[in-house]
Amino acid sequence: MKNSIIINSKIKSFNKQIFVDSDKSISIRSLIFGSLATGNSKIKNLLESEDIKNTIQSLKKLGVKIIKKKKVYHVNGLGINKFKYKKNLTIDAGNSGTLARLLFSLLIKSPVKIKIKGDKSLSKRDFNRIIIPLSKFGAKFFPKNKTNLPLSIKKNGNINETKFYEKKGSAQVKSAIMLASLYYSKKIQIIAKKSRNHTENFFKFLKIPIKINSSKNIDKINLTGAQKFKSFAYDVPSDISSALFFVALAVLTKKSKLTLKNVNINYSRMGSIEILKKMGVKFIFKNKKREKGETISDIIVKSPKQIKPIDCPKSMNSKAIDEFLIIFLIATKAKGNSYFKGLSELNQKESPRLKIASKFLNLIGVKNISTSDSIKIYGKSDLNLNGNFSMKNYLKDHRVFMMTVVAALTLGGNWKIYDADCFKTSFPSFLKLIRKVGGKYH
Ligand code: S3P
Repeated sequence: MKNSIIINSKIKSFNKQIFVDSDKSISIRSLIFGSLATGNSKIKNLLESEDIKNTIQSLKKLGVKIIKKKKVYHVNGLGINKFKYKKNLTIDAGNSGTLARLLFSLLIKSPVKIKIKGDKSLSKRDFNRIIIPLSKFGAKFFPKNKTNLPLSIKKNGNINETKFYEKKGSAQVKSAIMLASLYYSKKIQIIAKKSRNHTENFFKFLKIPIKINSSKNIDKINLTGAQKFKSFAYDVPSDISSALFFVALAVLTKKSKLTLKNVNINYSRMGSIEILKKMGVKFIFKNKKREKGETISDIIVKSPKQIKPIDCPKSMNSKAIDEFLIIFLIATKAKGNSYFKGLSELNQKESPRLKIASKFLNLIGVKNISTSDSIKIYGKSDLNLNGNFSMKNYLKDHRVFMMTVVAALTLGGNWKIYDADCFKTSFPSFLKLIRKVGGKYH
């Protein structure tokens, strides 16, 4: 693959049906739960992206056998705290914050130091968010006082806390605490700002005791500690976060219609759809079914006549956290000004996405005012670009790349977009599907 792609023409109106790649959060969790189960778990439709390849490699380094037979991944679970903790082991989490943060929770009882490293982007991200809770489970991190990768972990004591507060709305932090709870026979309570609930769904599906008391913004999660669970079969649905790039293509291309098949529409992931509904986009859901706590459906979307601006409620933030770049892009074509706030977590992603979004809007001449946690976007419903644009230096953030491709195909202009293979982190079929709906690039 070349290091850049060129886009010189807008996509024409289309009417297509596509399957986007499988859910990244669920794919990582299915491999992790499979490795902690006893017996052979079988996972169908596992996402085959770079983050997932790194998950498989990491678990293999810890002694878990994972093989692919006829499209199905077989994970030979070792049970809890049964990994092969080898001296001087370094695990490479690549670009994946979810993988690195959840891996640390699986290593809280390692008798030897195990090091986790990541790529340039991941090495800039905050790990204090898991160092603080996992230290309370008796883990120690090295070097002391460092809060970014590479970091090593080792058991250094016992659990000394059973009540945890998760105030950022981070599913990774919540999930790390939940997985760590499996290593000690103690009742544990997590008082968590709401975030995606796939780990909770796995607990329920695997019959690991869990009780959740929900209020408007908070979930009180009660866990009973050390549990064994049996191997399982899982069929991973498509990822709503990947689907959104194609939803945006349809929304921004007049007279278009798109059917996305078999997408996970878990309520805790539906913020982007709720936001777009408020912006005047209509959706139809067909063939809905419930599987293992998740809700799966086909989604049909048509381009609206007009896009409305939005003052986006903060309650949407964690439910749409991975989709904001694409929502900001749609807001550029709204008839009026949109406002998004309380989004400092966006700057903690694969790149500082709020800052990058503002830079991108400046590049395409869309007025915006941004702070460390908010952005106001001055929409222009007749926005149409001419001239040359080049997108580079965005820390190879897969979602920045894909958003830029959608912008180039819908707003016009001649584009050169660098780091043209980074989409493989989460959505390896992205460019193939772009061609399928009629997008041209070379
Ligand atoms: C994820 C949680 C989110 C999200 C990430 C995947 C997960 O991060 O941005 O892409 O699978 O738990 P935070 O939990 O840090 O918000």
